[in-house]
Amino acid sequence: MELKNKIVVITGAGSGIGAATASLMGEHGAKVIVSDMNMKRAQRTVDGIAKKGGSSFAVRANVTKFEEVEALVSKAVEEYGRLDVMINNAGIGGKNQKKTAEHTHEDWHNVIAVNQTGVFYCMQVALEQMMKQGFGNIVNVASLAGLKPSGYNLSYSASKYAVVGMTKSAALEYGRKNIRINAVCPGYTHSALLDQLLNSKPDMENTLKRLIPMDRFGEANEIAEAIAWLASDNSKYITGQTITLDGGTSLL
Ligand SMILES: NC(=O)c1ccc[n+]([C@@H]2O[C@H](COP(=O)([O-])OP(=O)(O)OC[C@H]3O[C@@H](n4cnc5c(N)ncnc54)[C@H](O)[C@@H]3O)[C@@H](O)[C@H]2O)c1
Repeated sequence: MELKNKIVVITGAGSGIGAATASLMGEHGAKVIVSDMNMKRAQRTVDGIAKKGGSSFAVRANVTKFEEVEALVSKAVEEYGRLDVMINNAGIGGKNQKKTAEHTHEDWHNVIAVNQTGVFYCMQVALEQMMKQGFGNIVNVASLAGLKPSGYNLSYSASKYAVVGMTKSAALEYGRKNIRINAVCPGYTHSALLDQLLNSKPDMENTLKRLIPMDRFGEANEIAEAIAWLASDNSKYITGQTITLDGGTSLL
């Protein structure tokens, strides 16, 4: 994959899919700015990249705070002079799995703030820098829940449909500016976020596996491969697209 010396910012890179993506891109020679609101986790990702001979540093940023997102991109540009790739991965699930009428307002506001407004802020700040330099590439981490209803998950589903919509709208606007914008839509993938869902109800694991023709959950490094490919020059004629990685769940 053509990623050598690419300057890449990844949000939510202290855990799960973001950490796996940071690690893979580091292995391919990218210079990775590992961002998370949890610095301990971000530093763990950076240490892992260093062990494999890669180059990265950690920056704390909460994607729901516009000024923190601005400071994050500024740090990347101060250090390397440009931003080649912005990977908007930070995301959360709701705490309560309830039907729409019972969905808590707390879950609604928290999930929309991180998953939807956070991606909007990150795209806006990255685009400003990318417009100045005349090129750029954004990869958003959406979800199968942004393509297909799953139930008991209204705020998450709303936020991920929004990420798919923002990806396509912005790709249309910035194609002529040499900026590509795509998204990945993972299905159920091993991570802290999936563990939270598995622990929400007894027998959840078997219920979910029945929805997966390949009969297993995805692995974070499998999603990372697709993100890294979209972020690389190997995919340079693709924009405004979603790649679904779900073991066939969307077929049902
Ligand atoms: N795991 C799955 O099954 C699955 C499926 C589809 C989509 N996704 C999406 O993949 C992305 C990564 O999820 P994951 O499964 O790796 O989860 P994870 O919980 O393992 O990692 C998420 C990371 O985001 C960070 N984060 C949370 N809120 C943040 C904020 N406000 N600002 C900055 N960082 C913040 C957390 O500290 C954590 O390190 C999310 O957008 C999620 O919605 C996950």
